[in-house]
Amino acid sequence: MARIFITGSADGLGLMEARMLAAQGHEVVLHGRNEQRAKDALSRVPGAVTALAADLSSIAETRSLAEEVNDLGSFDAVIHNAGVYHVPHNSRTVDGLPEIFAVNSLAPYILTCLIRRPKRLVYTSSGLHRGGDGALRDLASGEAEKVASNYADTKLHMVILAFAVARKWPEVLSNAMEPGWAATKMGGAGAPVSVEDGSRTQVWLAVSRDREALVSGRYFHHLRPGSFHPAAADPAVQEKYLSLCGRLSGIVFPD
Ligand SMILES: NC(=O)c1ccc[n+]([C@@H]2O[C@H](COP(=O)([O-])OP(=O)(O)OC[C@H]3O[C@@H](n4cnc5c(N)ncnc54)[C@H](OP(=O)(O)O)[C@@H]3O)[C@@H](O)[C@H]2O)c1
Repeated sequence: MARIFITGSADGLGLMEARMLAAQGHEVVLHGRNEQRAKDALSRVPGAVTALAADLSSIAETRSLAEEVNDLGSFDAVIHNAGVYHVPHNSRTVDGLPEIFAVNSLAPYILTCLIRRPKRLVYTSSGLHRGGDGALRDLASGEAEKVASNYADTKLHMVILAFAVARKWPEVLSNAMEPGWAATKMGGAGAPVSVEDGSRTQVWLAVSRDREALVSGRYFHHLRPGSFHPAAADPAVQEKYLSLCGRLSGIVFPD
């Protein structure tokens, strides 16, 4: 039995991953954007241990979430799932950042830095990451008000982060994956991939004993190796990304 923490598990793929893992007998800790969504999550996943609340668009709330996760003890796996796609153009967070960057990129960075290292980390990217900017021009100023990420950039950030962690923390299995276009609130009812199928790779990477899942620094699509943006594997890009996130969050990546 493994202990797994899943961000954004009140709905969509995160909720399905939680249900699958709890049904397999694993200890699952859920997360929602606020107290009500945390309660929603808990009511939707039979057998889940508890649910934590935090708005991942806020650096302060994300920091507190990491503390609450650590108060629960060590985890075998953390699945970074929460994400946004449809956000009002130019919407800025309490920290002055674009919401899409704060939730999709900076929150996973902060949680990775501050949560006690689990055995496995799973980062939810998207096939759209291949259109992201490997030069990281969106962040290059290092100033919150000048950050201008789009969805593809943030999903590339997930792959860069996963590969950076794999390189720097050899004791942790850290991988990125894409679920495919799945029929969630984000993907829409007409999406070709079911929520179940879109969740299987995350569950597999989190707990499977298969040799193919016990790897690090890889990218997957439906349980198979997938193609990824080459910049993600470049240590110079990874270092630049970690340094920019450190500057924007005030949290230095722990080597
Ligand atoms: N569906 C697809 O086709 C697809 C394709 C590629 C990648 N992905 C990725 O898969 C992941 C899950 O997406 P999904 O399709 O399951 O989308 P979803 O149904 O919209 O679920 C996203 C989850 O993230 C949570 N969330 C959003 N903003 C948050 C915030 N500020 N603080 C805390 N939680 C927040 C949502 O909470 P609420 O429920 O309260 O809004 C929800 O639980 C995302 O990272 C997405 O980028 C999805």
